[in-house]
Amino acid sequence: MAARQTFSDVLHHGDDDVCRNESDNPRFQDIASEQFSRRRVLQGGAALLGALSAPMLAAPTVHAAGFPGGGFQSRLGFDAIPVSRADATLVPPGYSARAFLPWGTPITGSYPDYQDGGFNTGADQEQQIGMHHDGMHYFPLGRGYREGSRHGILCINHEYIQQDLLHPNDATLIDGVRTIEDEVRKEVAAHGVSVVEIERDAAGNWGLVRGPYNRRITAGTPMEISGPVRGHDSVKTLFSPDGTLCRGTVNNCANGFTPWGTYLTCEENFAGYFVNDDPVQPREHKRYGVSTTDSHDRYSWHTRDEDEYTRFNATTTGADALADYRNEPNTFGWVVEIDPMNPASTPKKRTALGRFAHEGVWPSPPRPGQRLAFYMGDDSRFEYIYKFVTRDRYKAHRPDPDMLDHGTLYVARFNENGSGDWVALEFGQNGLTPEHGFHSQADVLVNTRAAADQVGATKMDRPEWGAVHPLTGEVYMTLTNNTNRTAAQTDAANPRGPNPFGHIIRWRERGHRPDATRFDWSLYVLAGPEGEGQVLPGKNGAALDDDNIFASPDGLWFDERGILWIQTDMSGSQLTGGPFGNNQMLAADPLTGEIRRFFTGPVGCEVTGIAATPDQRALFLNIQHPGEQGPSNWPDGGSARPRASTVIITRDDGGVIARP
Ligand code: FEO
Ligand code: CA
Ligand code: CA
Repeated sequence: MAARQTFSDVLHHGDDDVCRNESDNPRFQDIASEQFSRRRVLQGGAALLGALSAPMLAAPTVHAAGFPGGGFQSRLGFDAIPVSRADATLVPPGYSARAFLPWGTPITGSYPDYQDGGFNTGADQEQQIGMHHDGMHYFPLGRGYREGSRHGILCINHEYIQQDLLHPNDATLIDGVRTIEDEVRKEVAAHGVSVVEIERDAAGNWGLVRGPYNRRITAGTPMEISGPVRGHDSVKTLFSPDGTLCRGTVNNCANGFTPWGTYLTCEENFAGYFVNDDPVQPREHKRYGVSTTDSHDRYSWHTRDEDEYTRFNATTTGADALADYRNEPNTFGWVVEIDPMNPASTPKKRTALGRFAHEGVWPSPPRPGQRLAFYMGDDSRFEYIYKFVTRDRYKAHRPDPDMLDHGTLYVARFNENGSGDWVALEFGQNGLTPEHGFHSQADVLVNTRAAADQVGATKMDRPEWGAVHPLTGEVYMTLTNNTNRTAAQTDAANPRGPNPFGHIIRWRERGHRPDATRFDWSLYVLAGPEGEGQVLPGKNGAALDDDNIFASPDGLWFDERGILWIQTDMSGSQLTGGPFGNNQMLAADPLTGEIRRFFTGPVGCEVTGIAATPDQRALFLNIQHPGEQGPSNWPDGGSARPRASTVIITRDDGGVIARP
C-alpha cells in the first residue's frame, strides 16, 4: 500500500502551507519609497501600525454612526455569542440556522437518495450535491426584488473530498494503484460546482426545486479555454490538439460573480492532483508544486488506465511516462466562468485573469462607463495579490459576455509608506521579456507566479478572500496566517513574523478608479487571542475580547449595509486547543471598529462561503469538512457520518440579518 496523506496533511500542511516562492523580491525595507527605517518597522509596533491604518471608509456616500468613545449607535443588531465547542451551528437569540443541501442531496436525473455510510455509486454522485462546500453565490430568479428574494439559483463550490467519508471503507489502493474504477468516478463527481434552483415557500421554508437549471459540473466536465492562452502550445493536449478545450475543474475554493449574472469558480490547489516524475519539471509545474513522486499526489487518480484519469500523470520520461500529458496541469489554475441560467452552456476558463492558486475573485461595483476590476489572491505562503482590469468599459444594458477575455492583469506592491502600486503583467513591460524567459502574453499568464516574481511583487501571508465595499469600492482581504514568516521577513503589510493568527488588509484605489495603478492601503485588524488581537486604527488599537477573538480569517463578505462578515478557518492545535473554540463567523463594522461573533460551526469544520438574498433576509453560508478534527455527526446527528452543508440563517421576525 502506498502511504496516503491524511486530509489534514493535504489541505493544511500539504498545499497551502508550502512555500514555493523562491524569488528574492525586495521586502519593504528595500523599496525605493521607503520612509520608515528598518528599526522602526521592527520596534515601532503600534505607532507604525497606527500611522498606516488611518480610517479609510471616508467616501461621502457612507455615514459613520459614530466612533468608539464618542458614543454611537451600533449598526450590529444582535448580541455577541460566546465561543463554542458544540457539534452544532449556533446563532444569537432571535435567529435560526438550518442545514440545507448537504453533500449527497439528489438534484438531477433520477434523483438518487443519499445513503449514509458511503454507499452511493459514482453515477449517483454525478446527480447529487458534491462534497466539501466552499464559495457560493445566489442568483435571483423571476421579476423584481421581492420575487428574486424568495426564488433563485445557488451555485456552490466543492473544494475537495474526504475519501474515508465518501467510500464505505476509505479509498482502495493496492500497491499504490486505484483498483476500483467507480471509486475514482465518484471522487471526480464529488468535485466541482453544484448549480441548484431553490425557493422559499409561504411558511418561510427554503427547498430545492427539481427544475431544469440544476446541474453538476465536475472534475471531468468539458470546458473551453478562453482568452490569451487559448490555442497556445502550453495547453495543447491529446484531448484538445489545438489547445481550445480541456476537462474539468478541481479544488474550487472561493468564487466570484459578474454584473452580467454569471458565476466565477476558482481553482486553488490544483497542483496536488497531478504528478510529474521527470528529473526536471518545467516552471509551469514546479512553481505551482506539481507532485514529484506518486506518494505526494492527492488521490492517485492517475493510476487508473482510463485516459480521463491517467491524464493526471504529466510525466514524460522513464517508466512512469504514459501518453504525453505534459500540458494537462497547465489547463488548471484558472478562474472559470459558468452561466447558471443556461444549463447547456460550456464553462470557460478565463485565462486573462492569470494562473495561480486562485482563492477567489471579487468584482468592483459596476459603474456604467467605467472599467471593472476583479481582485484576486493566491493562497500560498509568500504569494501575491492581483487585480484584473477589463479593457472595455461596462455597459449595463448590453454587457459583453466575453468581457473577461480582454484586459490587464496587475500584481500588488505594498509600499512601506501606505501607498501601493499595481504592476502590469504585460508581455514586453516591466522585464517580462524574452531575456527573462517570457515569450508572449500567453507565456506570462501560464507562468503568472514567475511573472509576479520578476516584477518584484510583495509576498503576502496567504491571501484568502476579498470583499469590496458596495458603495466605496474599498477592498478588504484576509491574510489567513503564515507561520513561516520570520521576524526578519516582516514588512508593513505583513507585520508579524511568525504570523499564526492572520490579519486583514484593505486598500482604496487612487481617485476611486477601478483601473488606477496606484492605491493607498492600511491594516484593518490583527487577529488573535486576547492580548494579541486588535482592531486598527487606534492608539494601540482596540483589543479583541471575549466577544470577538478569532484567528485565521478566511471567508469575507460585505453586505449591502457595509457590514463586513468574517469567517474563520483555523486548523491543528489552534482549532482543537486554542481559546477560539470551533470555527466561526463574525460581523464587523469598519466605521466603528466593532466586531461581534454571530455564528459558530460544528466540531472540526471550517466556516466558509457566504451569500444572501437581495433583501438580506436569508443568509447562506457553508460548513466544510465537519468532523475533520474531532468527532462530528452534523448535520444528521445520531451515528451518521458528518456531511458538508450549506446553512440558511434567518431572523425569527423575518427581518434583515443583523440590522438593529
Ligand atoms: Fe481553499 Fe485558501 O482556502
Ligand atoms: Ca479558503
Ligand atoms: Ca483557509
